[in-house]
Amino acid sequence: MTAVVVYESQYGNTQRIAEAIARGLGGDARAVHVSAFSPATLEPGALLVVGSPIVGWKPLEGLGAWLDALGPGSLDGVRTAAFDTRVKLFIHGDAAKKIEHALEAAGGQRAADPTWYYVKGTEGPLLDGELEKAEAWGRQLAG
Ligand SMILES: Cc1cc2nc3c(=O)[nH]c(=O)nc-3n(C[C@H](O)[C@H](O)[C@H](O)COP(=O)(O)O)c2cc1C
Repeated sequence: MTAVVVYESQYGNTQRIAEAIARGLGGDARAVHVSAFSPATLEPGALLVVGSPIVGWKPLEGLGAWLDALGPGSLDGVRTAAFDTRVKLFIHGDAAKKIEHALEAAGGQRAADPTWYYVKGTEGPLLDGELEKAEAWGRQLAG
């Protein structure tokens, strides 16, 4: 199974989560920055995981533009899952659900519900245990 974790990250926390998910997925799974990944390379049956920090209640701009550029049907037959990183605020908005919505609009089939990982402050670090949680999520997606 081809599995790719596409991410954008300002301070490195989302990148670390993406790499942990890829480790959990195992095999040839890899984490790739959004600027270096074309969805046209995905074959039906592949797994595409996409993640971003929440910035102003939505995904980062580069990832948002990448999602906007996905044509209808461009992810037909591709399994998809989404995550975000966020701070533990009472009101934090959401990016993962917006990402999953865009992936499904392009034809992706949801492999898991959107999920999220916490950072302690804007620049991080990640809360204790989040990398382990991400790796376990990757193992679950691979299974
Ligand atoms: C301009 C800005 C806006 C942000 N807005 C939110 C927000 O609406 N909700 C939230 O939970 N976190 C927000 N954050 C915190 C980010 O989610 C946090 O910086 C991010 O998870 C770190 O990931 P990164 O290291 O991959 O960039 C914001 C951060 C910045 C810099």
